[in-house]
Amino acid sequence: MKISKICCIGAGYVGGPTMAVIAQKCPHIQVKVVDINQARIDAWNDSDLDRLPVYEPGLDKIVADARGKNLFFSTDVDQAIKEADMVFISVNTPTKTYGEGKGQAADLKWIEKCARQIAAASDSDKIVVEKSTLPVRTAEAVKDILDNTGNGHKFQILSNPEFLAEGTAVEDLLDPDRVLIGGDTSSPDGLEAIASLVDIYANWVSRDKILSTNVWSSELSKLTANAFLAQRVSSINSLSELCESTEADIHEVSRAIGKDSRIGPKFLQASVGFGGSCFQKDILNLVYISRSYGLTEVADYWEQVIKMNDHQKGRFAKKIIKSLYNTVSGKKIAFLGWAFKKDTNDTRESAAIYVADHLLNEGANVYVYDPKVSEEQMYGDIDYLNSRSKVDNRKLLQSEDDPYDVCKGAHAIAILTEWDEFKDYDWEVIYHSMQKPCQIFDGRNLLDKEKLEKIGFRVYSIGKS
Ligand code: UDX
Ligand code: ADP
Repeated sequence: MKISKICCIGAGYVGGPTMAVIAQKCPHIQVKVVDINQARIDAWNDSDLDRLPVYEPGLDKIVADARGKNLFFSTDVDQAIKEADMVFISVNTPTKTYGEGKGQAADLKWIEKCARQIAAASDSDKIVVEKSTLPVRTAEAVKDILDNTGNGHKFQILSNPEFLAEGTAVEDLLDPDRVLIGGDTSSPDGLEAIASLVDIYANWVSRDKILSTNVWSSELSKLTANAFLAQRVSSINSLSELCESTEADIHEVSRAIGKDSRIGPKFLQASVGFGGSCFQKDILNLVYISRSYGLTEVADYWEQVIKMNDHQKGRFAKKIIKSLYNTVSGKKIAFLGWAFKKDTNDTRESAAIYVADHLLNEGANVYVYDPKVSEEQMYGDIDYLNSRSKVDNRKLLQSEDDPYDVCKGAHAIAILTEWDEFKDYDWEVIYHSMQKPCQIFDGRNLLDKEKLEKIGFRVYSIGKS
């Protein structure tokens, strides 16, 4: 089947960048990205490219290149489905906050809604592609809904999990390590659907990097890849605590083990804890599915990765409190960074939120500067935890547009995100504007410890004694 029109449901961090790259690389294909969120679609259509809803280096140029030619953003979901030969599902799949599986299983109500909408709006056969991270066997449920509620049209379901990392999404999309496509490998129609999607990626990805598997292997591979990556971060973070109690230095340990080609150097950076929309959610899915098959040891094994991450965030907050003479009540604490990593405006599950919450519980006044995150977003994140009233959150947490203002008069600075610009600040000026003794808690081991100590700062770095 030759694909000439694509629809993508969900214009978020996955759908937006992925479709922009497909449109740019496949000028012969019309790509429509649709969303129920009018404000988000308006932002994607904004002529001011600084106002795109997703900040990713390089994305603005790609959108400018393709938008209006073969890339369109709209809220008319039904029309886009109707026209399309291939429909990508890229909607959010947050962890359930109620009922069975609360706190662990993915909430699939958005996916089900999408499947029903695709069935109702379709007046021809279609290939439906799962792009969102989903628990294993979701494709089966989507197929069941489409086959039973559709108007007699045939649907092929593919799983095509996204491996882009935020902050490097454009690079990852343009030059992926691999593209994974799961489909019904046992039927000619399934193989044909897989081939259609392979042909799209083959416009810019070499065919030997495009892997096809059955649907369930594809779904499980996505969860597994994220679980392995998160496990590496928790492993190195667990050792950072041991380093702090000994004379070892986590940076030296990472470098030494990373030279082993079997281990490799990536994802060994000790930090205040991993965040992002995927790691925790995917591991929780893995834990939930393992438990539902009675595999207690498997579930417990993966759950420990999350426990370690929670511990790392908590111990960072406790370290700040202990170093400030066991009381932060009424003290100004400056946060540099709120995003879950640099080069993104995404804050989902960011360690900063949890560290802030801990300090706010102790009555601290937290002032935050992040180059890409709005104050509104910060309040949304902290309100979501329901730890105190919205009024109290606004009294205790402030956002500022100037990092020097944030640090002025502070008892301590905490680095929560590894934004490059933090390295270039005039730390001498900051030192003289702060309460003494000046303390820096570097949750990303970003700053030059020795240089800061020469200025007079007391510096706590993760995993260094
Ligand atoms: C991840 C996967 O990398 C990607 O393939 C998948 O598609 C989505 O989930 P993402 O969450 O965007 O991507 O970012 P990633 O670079 O994986 O970082 C996740 C978190 O781990 C961040 O908070 C980051 O700061 C932290 N991290 C990463 C560390 O603390 N140390 C490291 O060495 C690496
Ligand atoms: P991700 O990181 O997976 O891309 P986001 O939350 O950034 O997640 O984006 C998901 C998008 O999907 C949101 O903009 C949301 O409004 C949209 N969405 C959710 N359900 C539907 C639906 N039924 N139809 C259209 N869009 C939807």
